[in-house]
Amino acid sequence: MRWRGWMLAATAPWAAGCTTTMSTLDAHGSAGRPVADLAWLLIAMAGAVVVASTVAMLVALFRARRTDEAPERIPVDRTRWVVVWGVVIPAIILAGTFLWGTHTLAALSASRTANALTVEVIGHRWWWEIRYPGTGVVTANEIHIPTGRHVRLLVRSADVIHSVWVPQLGGKIDVVPGTVNRRWVEADQPGVYRGTCAEYCGAQHAHMGLLVVAEAPATFAAWVRQESRPAPAPRDSAAVHGERVFLASPCVTCHTIRGTPARGAVGPDLTHLASRRTLAAGAIPNTKGALGAWVVNAQGIKPGSLMPAVPLTGAELQAMLAYLEQLR
Ligand code: CUA
Repeated sequence: MRWRGWMLAATAPWAAGCTTTMSTLDAHGSAGRPVADLAWLLIAMAGAVVVASTVAMLVALFRARRTDEAPERIPVDRTRWVVVWGVVIPAIILAGTFLWGTHTLAALSASRTANALTVEVIGHRWWWEIRYPGTGVVTANEIHIPTGRHVRLLVRSADVIHSVWVPQLGGKIDVVPGTVNRRWVEADQPGVYRGTCAEYCGAQHAHMGLLVVAEAPATFAAWVRQESRPAPAPRDSAAVHGERVFLASPCVTCHTIRGTPARGAVGPDLTHLASRRTLAAGAIPNTKGALGAWVVNAQGIKPGSLMPAVPLTGAELQAMLAYLEQLR
């Protein structure tokens, strides 16, 4: 809409950050747009108040300078002024924004989810477990969704209160222990949308990132097929050695690799680890070097996380990395 463009232009220096992947104002779907509309309304109203009160202040200043008349002698019906501008008009405006806000909330939580895809999001300190019921797909920190389809997020916590927030795709939803919260999101075009935990949950709250990868429906279906398979068998001798090292290490007590005896349920499922874009909930990129650093010194990257340092020789580490890098 044109008026939004004009507003963005008028506030360009301050709005320079509004078209990033973490901006509510840069909505990319039918769940994000009502939130952006509400935000623009509030910004416009706050801007109008700032402009009006600045103009009133300047008028008062210049008037006072032009006349010797004391302000008290200017005949003003103060009671009516206060009642109209201080009570009635703000009450009307606040009631209007309250109604708009509740309407927006209702639209985002309503059961407008026929034909919706259900995705379970489980908050852990400090990562996200992602499950696709009925498919066997379990992954971490990366939600793949098909474009143009409502996605129902069933959100729960494994420990403390978190909050899922993907600003471009919809509003925040709290992740509360002992309950399942529901919200839907939708992306109208393919892309990678960044999300985060939006409720302080401990030392690594800032390292609790999330990516939503929106793909064309066929691409998404292929992703689900691939991710629902057990881990591929190691393809070369280094990876075969690496699998043995992994299965003999303490890693198996916390991590699952489907198709192997590793059945831990404390940390992220590693079955298709190499297909993910980041490690440690967005703290580091998913490269061989970063993965090696994470395995031997996770506490140096995310102090306080439950991932301990894994005691390995250099050769064992290289073999394990060769194996993990093949988990696509
Ligand atoms: Cu989880 Cu903040």
